[in-house]
Amino acid sequence: MSTDRNTADITHSELVKQGLQGITANILKCKLCQLNENATNKVIMRGSERPKVLFIGEAPGKSEDEAGIPFCGRAGKVLDGLIDYMDLEENEYAIINTVKCRPPNNRKPTQNELRTCRPFLLAQIELLGPDVIILLGNTAEQAFCVSSLNWGEAMITPEGKHLMKLYHPAALLYRRALMEEQKKMIDRNRDLWKKIQ
Ligand code: URA
Repeated sequence: MSTDRNTADITHSELVKQGLQGITANILKCKLCQLNENATNKVIMRGSERPKVLFIGEAPGKSEDEAGIPFCGRAGKVLDGLIDYMDLEENEYAIINTVKCRPPNNRKPTQNELRTCRPFLLAQIELLGPDVIILLGNTAEQAFCVSSLNWGEAMITPEGKHLMKLYHPAALLYRRALMEEQKKMIDRNRDLWKKIQ
């Protein structure tokens, strides 16, 4: 078998065997959906490789596409503020997205794009091994799970991880009431990441 086979043939468990560097290599060469055609950079992850808390966003925007770093633009400033509010240290969190390439005009990724990128998402989650997974908005929820969650209400996955949906940081820009609500949801769930050593 060719070592340069298309990523379409690679399953989530094969990706896990290749480790985070292998996943990165596969994402970089991926041409499985049309999103790669206009991507300046693939946007893979930022943060710790052993995070307590993993944030899953929607898709790279313009700044992220230019820099190759998740949440480095305006929404990223809001997310950094929330991470501070959560009292998380630099080595306690990581950030990834449902898809690794910027959708044109910042549209939402399609169901097909989410499905195509899902093996990367699931392999990243498995290898990063967080205790708490925070889905930022409905698209992250769609990419990750089948059932629907209530905002700010944590549940436990079959793998024993705490899973919670919060508002996407872009939705909080200039919306003070929503930001206050988000902070209350964080306050109610602080134990999830503060109890874990
Ligand atoms: N919005 C996202 O969902 N992800 C990013 O990386 C940036 C903005």
